Amino acid sequence: MRDWIAKSMTKFFRFFADTFFAKRYGHRAVVLETIAGVPGMVAGMLIHLRSLRKMERGNGRMIHQMLEEAENERKHLMFFIEIAQPNQFERLLIVMAQFIFWHFYLVFYILAPNTAHKMIAYFEEEAVRSYDEYIKLIEEGTIENVQAPQLAIEYYMLNKDATLLDMVKCVRDDERKHSQVNHRIAGF
Ligand SMILES: [Fe+2]
Ligand SMILES: [Fe+2]
Repeated sequence: MRDWIAKSMTKFFRFFADTFFAKRYGHRAVVLETIAGVPGMVAGMLIHLRSLRKMERGNGRMIHQMLEEAENERKHLMFFIEIAQPNQFERLLIVMAQFIFWHFYLVFYILAPNTAHKMIAYFEEEAVRSYDEYIKLIEEGTIENVQAPQLAIEYYMLNKDATLLDMVKCVRDDERKHSQVNHRIAGF
């Protein structure tokens, strides 16, 4: 049942993303990474608060792991903003989506933390799939393989002539890691 909920919500959100962005992967990455930075922060904050409230030790490395995930997603956003600049409508969408998703995820996490982690694990699997498609289009030459942003070169310690393709592969590896971590924490 919980797995079904997590999967259905993922499909629901994926449908919106696919309809709205179609093949505009640069824009898709920017807008979705603004959302991707939310769940880790919510989870980290709630586990932190529970530890304070119950005066118990935190859940191992989980607080740090969740905050690190949020930070990693924010870094992705900083890379992609150099690749594609959102239009006015997308900027408005980002503001509204953050407001809605923050509150939705906060309540969801309080009610069913494991299911929330499971949903994020599936979100991350979808992110891997989207970046697979992005990579395919760069390799085919449909999307120009420009120079990677300096910030990404430093963050991933890439060669100084690294390209968008190298960067997107690193980002995809991060998303795969997030997926594994969240599946593990969900525990089912
Ligand atoms: Fe990301
Ligand atoms: Fe992610």
